[in-house]
Amino acid sequence: MEGALVCMNVEVDCMNNRMPRKLSRRAFLGSTGKLALGVAAALSGTTGLFYYGAKTHKNEAEAEQRPGNIALLGSYEELSALTAMKMIHYEAEHVDAWYKKPLRGFVYVTTDAAGQILIISSACSHLGCTVEPATDAQRKKTKDLVLICPCHGAEFGKYGDTVSAFVNRGLDTYEPIIAGGGVYFDVMQPIQRNLTME
Ligand code: FES
Repeated sequence: MEGALVCMNVEVDCMNNRMPRKLSRRAFLGSTGKLALGVAAALSGTTGLFYYGAKTHKNEAEAEQRPGNIALLGSYEELSALTAMKMIHYEAEHVDAWYKKPLRGFVYVTTDAAGQILIISSACSHLGCTVEPATDAQRKKTKDLVLICPCHGAEFGKYGDTVSAFVNRGLDTYEPIIAGGGVYFDVMQPIQRNLTME
């Protein structure tokens, strides 16, 4: 059912890490990987190496040789076929020049109106609490509601867009990185949405 939420077993909560955006959309390595080649060469550090590697890797085992800030979400075949939002847990590392810190959290994944994989942050765009699937009773009260924040009640739709006046910004997203038949994302590069005019 479109707009409904499909949840996996919830074992741990999200870390709500909100880190600065560093990559442009052009850094996204699509399934064809062709556009990314020039951009990847310009990227520095281990993340850049992964993007380049993803372009050239031929199988999933090789794609697994990735920097800690790149998290695996699942197979491209499965995720590109999603018609409803799915909660997917990940494990990664916060990596900077000084230290590495383990990260565990989850994102919501679906496909957008154009059929492209959409990775949505679970951190509320108000103050960062973890948004949750709305209950049936909550969904009856607000049109198009799919996710709700337990802290102050911000409400979001099937693409992580805001569906109430409480917040004027939808949930952050992440660029999907497609390599070796898998879908990955950089946990350190959430993409902030534009403000909506209320
Ligand atoms: S932190 Fe989500 S509504 Fe305030």
